[in-house]
Amino acid sequence: MKKKILPSQARVGMYIDSLGKDWMEHNYLRSCFLIKNEAMLAKLKSSQLKEIAIDTEKGLDVEEKKPDTPKPMHKPAEKPVTPAFPQTTGADIQQAKMAYKMASQVIRDLMNDVRSGKALKPEQAASSAEQIIKSIDSNPHTLTAVTRIKNRDEYTFQHSVGVATLLAGFAKETYSNSAIEEITIGGIIHDIGKIMVPDSILNKPDKLEGDEFIIMKKHVTYSREILEKFNNFTRMQIDIALLHHERPDGMGYPLGLKAEDISEIGAMGAIIDVYDALSTRRVYKKAWEPSQALKSMLEWGPGQFNQPLLLRFIKYLGVYPVGTWVLLESNRVGFILSQNEDKLRPVVQANLELKTRRLMNQEVDLSAITSDAIKGVVSPQAYGLNDDFVI
Ligand SMILES: [Fe+2]
Repeated sequence: MKKKILPSQARVGMYIDSLGKDWMEHNYLRSCFLIKNEAMLAKLKSSQLKEIAIDTEKGLDVEEKKPDTPKPMHKPAEKPVTPAFPQTTGADIQQAKMAYKMASQVIRDLMNDVRSGKALKPEQAASSAEQIIKSIDSNPHTLTAVTRIKNRDEYTFQHSVGVATLLAGFAKETYSNSAIEEITIGGIIHDIGKIMVPDSILNKPDKLEGDEFIIMKKHVTYSREILEKFNNFTRMQIDIALLHHERPDGMGYPLGLKAEDISEIGAMGAIIDVYDALSTRRVYKKAWEPSQALKSMLEWGPGQFNQPLLLRFIKYLGVYPVGTWVLLESNRVGFILSQNEDKLRPVVQANLELKTRRLMNQEVDLSAITSDAIKGVVSPQAYGLNDDFVI
């Protein structure tokens, strides 16, 4: 049963069904989640939310008052409230959500324009590209997190924003500022040809098989036809759309080009397209841990990806990309919150102390201390944690 309650009535074990505001208006990545621990409860109680809704079939109900219980002589001391996540994260999430909303709407509009035979112009995506770049400037990885979480949208929109975001961030390392907007627009429209693929295949909740995959592969040729027809798009933008499924060994599609014939931006698109797909949750598969996705991509070898570019991409994401779960030498488990110049010593959000099994919400900047370090990458599920904790 769904029930409206005040944030002050919330308790650990409740399942939040709605935060009483549109997704755009609150500072959470998700609107539905289980309150798993005191840290999450503290954040919720200290929020500006007026009313929230719980689902009592998925979690605990409001605690019933027991009139028979004798009143204590003295009011028990209030439990100290665990500090909430840093407020700056809220601002970054808001900005990233704005950029996400705008970009997915732009992709929808562009697809509708193509459907109705209107001309397609890169300028239509310019202000959206600007928002994506702004979000990356303020925090390079928040928008990537938002695109992974916001999975109620069709995958095509989510994936296009994810690719545009990663491509813009990665390209910033080597391309001029003026090229970044062009590249970001290329990322936004890189799968525009999917408009010609039947919805039953495009939005199929399971893995594609046989003929379905053959039809899906045609989206690249459709993209090329659409972009070249309007004659408004640059070579780089067409390359991102046309070459992001090519492979250095010539086994990619649709052209089967060899490494020397694939432009750098096309090869970057190919790496990012696969990385975004692997690290995003789908109905039929879990999201891969970022480090697992990168490790597998390296193992697949130089036939599949341009190796120098892949190594550069790994360096850009960091040895431990944001969102990776790690075990610290201090026997605490947490996830990478942000990078430092020393990529081996990022900022970790420690969530669990193994010795005491105590849940915590502590930011550990490994670049500022010498007493702790990362011991290794772990699976949050192995410790009873999962990415729902990242809210
Ligand atoms: Fe594609």
